Amino acid sequence: MSKLQDAPTAFTFDDFVLVPGHSEIRSRKDPQISVSLPDFDFQIPIVAAPMNTVCEEEMLVTMCDLGGTGVLHRYMSIEDQANMCERVIARLGPSVTPDASRTQQKFFAAVGANGDAVDRLKALREAGVRGICVDVANGHNILCLETVANIRAWWPNCNIMAGNVCTFAGARALWAAGANSIRVGVGPGAVCTTRLVTGHGVPQLSSIDDCARLKAESPNVVLIADGGIRYSGDAVKALAAGADAIMIGSLLAGTVESPGEWLEENGQLFKYYHGMASLEGRKKWFDKSKAGLPSEGVSTKVPYTGKSARKVVEGLCQSIKVGLSYAGAANLAELREKAEWRRVTTSGVTEGTPHGKK
Ligand code: XMP
Repeated sequence: MSKLQDAPTAFTFDDFVLVPGHSEIRSRKDPQISVSLPDFDFQIPIVAAPMNTVCEEEMLVTMCDLGGTGVLHRYMSIEDQANMCERVIARLGPSVTPDASRTQQKFFAAVGANGDAVDRLKALREAGVRGICVDVANGHNILCLETVANIRAWWPNCNIMAGNVCTFAGARALWAAGANSIRVGVGPGAVCTTRLVTGHGVPQLSSIDDCARLKAESPNVVLIADGGIRYSGDAVKALAAGADAIMIGSLLAGTVESPGEWLEENGQLFKYYHGMASLEGRKKWFDKSKAGLPSEGVSTKVPYTGKSARKVVEGLCQSIKVGLSYAGAANLAELREKAEWRRVTTSGVTEGTPHGKK
């Protein structure tokens, strides 16, 4: 046998469906989708992605107001990022956990793993931020692990999100280094080309499933399925496979709150959506550590919906609740317990996609 012949198959959202089960949920509005873990306590399991065409001040305020959260991207000067955090904190008001034991992080702010990370971190802490996201393409890299460990040593009660990883070993290494929550997903995103450029990554549903094995030994680890969520059904599958929350970029890029630039084409409005490792994404904020490296993302435009992110996220949450009602699940923990999966063929995918219109 060879490594290739021994290799397991990895799957993504379209390769599986959930089987409806006996349900005692009388109203599709009844299921609860809050997440209540010691280091991640939110009313809705949705996080806005740290991208410069997705999450800045307005998106953070809207997401937090809805009971979810977001990560302020790091593609701006340290001063601008810290000032923006101060403004968001002022707009959201003080936040204290129910037992008043510590200040609850309402949102996260991103830092990298080298370059200006230390100065950025200090400025964010000074600005009153309590949740930091160590935002690295390959979170299993020693630089990311060391950064997480150093933050944990220097700032013991910091709420650390880190990633991205796509394996049990990667998730476990980040957890051991001191991360509270882990972003799961290498290459599944709408503007990602990591798999094409590097040949690396794991289809997202298998990646979540693999990382979720960490829950058996570390039940408090928070897993955030990051990238590739196109429909609410993908979100339901990610949560059923073991994610505590989902992170979304493209679904939010065309909303009023996203900071993406406008574009008009044939009378239709669009907003740009840049991969953060794309040439266009880097052009907006020149990262010296990436000079000369190949891009791992593309830039695209998404139709401007004219809708607030509030509407998009509320719609997503309603559909996730309907998903729970099909499983007979009253909450996300029951969804994971009751989830029953079927593999689908390509004919099954075709059948499940609108095809009646001629
Ligand atoms: P969606 O599918 O929601 O994905 O748009 C958002 C996630 O995509 C990741 N991301 C990238 N991945 N190259 C990549 O390989 C990139 O240029 C890039 N930009 C964003 C990131 O994890 C984000 O949360």
